[in-house]
Amino acid sequence: MSRYLIAGNWKLNPQTLEEAKKIAAAYKKIAPELKHTETVICPPFPFIQALTPSKPVKNMSMGAQSAAKEVSGSHTGLVSATMLREVGAEYIIVGHSEERKRGDTDEVVNARLQAVLAAGLTAIVCVGEEKRDSDGAYMQELKSQISTTLANVTAASAKKIVIAYEPVWAIGAPEPMKSEDIYETSLFVKKVVADILTPEAGIKIPVLYGGAVNAANAAEIVRIGQVDGLLVGRESINPSGFVELLKVVDSLGKK
Ligand code: PGA
Repeated sequence: MSRYLIAGNWKLNPQTLEEAKKIAAAYKKIAPELKHTETVICPPFPFIQALTPSKPVKNMSMGAQSAAKEVSGSHTGLVSATMLREVGAEYIIVGHSEERKRGDTDEVVNARLQAVLAAGLTAIVCVGEEKRDSDGAYMQELKSQISTTLANVTAASAKKIVIAYEPVWAIGAPEPMKSEDIYETSLFVKKVVADILTPEAGIKIPVLYGGAVNAANAAEIVRIGQVDGLLVGRESINPSGFVELLKVVDSLGKK
């Protein structure tokens, strides 16, 4: 990947459009100054359209936190990938652990992914083990999660997939995973993708890390963890922290 991808997952925040506009304004200002980084902001559904810039902002895209696996029809309360595309989203997160906790299986995540790809959008597919054990069972867990989640995906559509490796135990935690372990696991993720799709897809697929990332630890995670970017929760609704995070990662440069 030629540039870092740093996505902000705002989750169920903030509560008002006014606050959301303030946060987004800080990112619209910094994004054009970045040289090696693209940022994606994923606010709650009702704010996406209002925050989508009327003219494209360099290095910044809009995303959503989920999309229905269904395309249209009688499904009260759902929002389709096509609807999200219509209001400005270019990226959609699927399989976030908080959504998995509400009942999404790997099969459901796969169906959501297919809907996102069918709408022509890029999917940020979240995977990650519940806990880390010393005998390596987590690797099997990750492998099976990735295999089912990417079932029936073609190597060609892998160009529209980003994997976010987020160990569930690090999400919302005080500290991220150790950078050395991030390095090792992100390589493992690429290897699994290579085995399922093609060696080329395994090499090319961007792998982000997520879980307790902030401006103070982001550079080390990217440098030592050798990831293609980050998926950021809490720090993404703290404009000063997220702007700093973008700057420190951008200043690492990209080969
Ligand atoms: P966090 O969340 O950065 O607040 O740990 C990460 C995520 O849920 O993607």
